[in-house]
Amino acid sequence: MNNLNLNNKLMTLLLIASFFLIGCDKKSPEWEYFPDMYDSPAREAQEYDPTAPNKVGGRLPVEGTIPVEYTPYQLSGPNLDDQRVKDLKIPEGIKLTELNLKRGETQFQVFCYPCHGPQGEGNGPVIGPPGGGKFNYSPNMNIHGTYAYLNDGQIYHVITNGNGQMPAYASMISEEDRWKIVLYVRKLKETYVLLAQAKTAPAENAEPKKDGN
Ligand code: HEC
Repeated sequence: MNNLNLNNKLMTLLLIASFFLIGCDKKSPEWEYFPDMYDSPAREAQEYDPTAPNKVGGRLPVEGTIPVEYTPYQLSGPNLDDQRVKDLKIPEGIKLTELNLKRGETQFQVFCYPCHGPQGEGNGPVIGPPGGGKFNYSPNMNIHGTYAYLNDGQIYHVITNGNGQMPAYASMISEEDRWKIVLYVRKLKETYVLLAQAKTAPAENAEPKKDGN
């Protein structure tokens, strides 16, 4: 009787031990206890999902969703002649300091240089040789009269919204940096005037465009 009891105990121990040994053999899949969590119905972002309206695991954000730290631009419709655009002012906090100007310069050289060139003269690498470039004319800020007739708000508007053939940069450059670029574009104007004086430049290049674009 005693012996049988011992045998029973041994058998129970063996059974419990074997429980822990299941799945130790790496060649076979591990024993799944409650497999629900392993095979959840969740989809990866790029995965095919027949139940989604766009058939992709990642859903589009609800209309009107605003990313964190992003300020929507209220004037995406109107053109450069709109009074609300002209009335836009550089925020109080963004002063004409060396640091802000430097930031404007680096941002200009990253985002604007490819087309407008280092001094805004429209000779960036994307533009290419005259007649053979991406655009049908070179976006020379001097010739198009940016310095002469666009105020700070209008330049900010062009960067934010794009203009004609120029794409919008609102999604790539923060609001603050866009204003710092405006500071730098203003600085380019001074440089341009100085260069022009040095060359005793002809006045015909400075004629503003009439259509406001
Ligand atoms: C992909 C090329 C490209 C890039 C990059 C680009 N622009 Fe432009 N930009 C243009 C073109 C082309 C025009 C002329 C638009 C038109 O009238 O169709 C223009 C026009 C402008 C004008 C208005 C000039 C006028 O009087 O019509 C301003 C101001 C300006 N760009 C500033 C900037 C600034 C600042 C950046 C950098 C944030 C920038 N652009 C980046 C191509 C570019």
